Amino acid sequence: MAYLDQRTLPFETREERARTADDVVDAIRTLAVRGAPCIGVFAAYGVALVRRTLHDDAAFAQAAARIRVARPTAVNLAWAVDRVLASDDMLAEAHAIHREQEQVDAAIATHGLELIPQGARIITHCHTGGLATGGTGTALGVIVAAQRAGKRPRVYVDETRPLLQGARLTMLELQAAGVEALLQVDGAAGAAMAHEEIDLVIVGADRVARNGDTANKIGTYALAILASHHAIPFYVAAPRSSFDPVLQAGQDIAIEQRDAREVTAFRESAAAPESTRVFNPAFDVTPRHLVTAFVTERGVLRPPFPEAIDEVLRVS
Ligand code: MRU
Repeated sequence: MAYLDQRTLPFETREERARTADDVVDAIRTLAVRGAPCIGVFAAYGVALVRRTLHDDAAFAQAAARIRVARPTAVNLAWAVDRVLASDDMLAEAHAIHREQEQVDAAIATHGLELIPQGARIITHCHTGGLATGGTGTALGVIVAAQRAGKRPRVYVDETRPLLQGARLTMLELQAAGVEALLQVDGAAGAAMAHEEIDLVIVGADRVARNGDTANKIGTYALAILASHHAIPFYVAAPRSSFDPVLQAGQDIAIEQRDAREVTAFRESAAAPESTRVFNPAFDVTPRHLVTAFVTERGVLRPPFPEAIDEVLRVS
């Protein structure tokens, strides 16, 4: 199975191949394939691939279970793997998940348009574009749709530490779409809100609990607090597959802790003294009271979120 290695973009377009369950797990863990919906689509194809090559049922079940937990926070991963495992034709189901994601992204973009004023100044965090979903993206899809609708947004792009998903990938996709975009360090978001007349923040999600608490890339929580302080709307764009039907609240969401070297080194060069200890959660949880609305393929959800989320999960 061929896939695009997101780690080398935009400097090098590198196509890799996954042949085994280990390859699939490795691609997900190393962030060669990343972004919650994209992880789901990739894992779905990965499980279908492994089924064709591993004929022993017990070995296959074990391999699928390993893929299912390759990363702990994005619920799309387990959701997609479970869907494929429950189907008679795994490859057809993987194709269906991919096709649905394209439709879901288009619907999110359409619904999100109503939240973007003419000439809006927007902050976004991490990367939520087509490369992160397999379609046209979630939060970034809304922004690009606003550009296509002639709203001429200006986007302040958080570089997103520690892997620079914003600097590398969000900037790449916004530039390709002709959207005016300024790259900023994550720590500049407060200054942008204070001095740059920011109208709204829009981000993606890795997992939304039943009550609306939302896990997303580390730094999202701080951004939501800043937005609340400045009375700026804070929107989360996410497909139904990012809503966890089981977990009631954000405190139950497993947060991935990643390698210290992502923080102590920059592209192989040391960036901190050798014995530096590190706190490196990949995600944080934004409590629901800081979220103004969710943009889903079913429409815009406003508080009270538990009821609105129940409804979205019920009709799926
Ligand atoms: O660690 P990553 O790069 O996979 O984290 C990605 C994010 O936090 C995204 O905001 C989220 O997955 C939504 S992608 C549409």
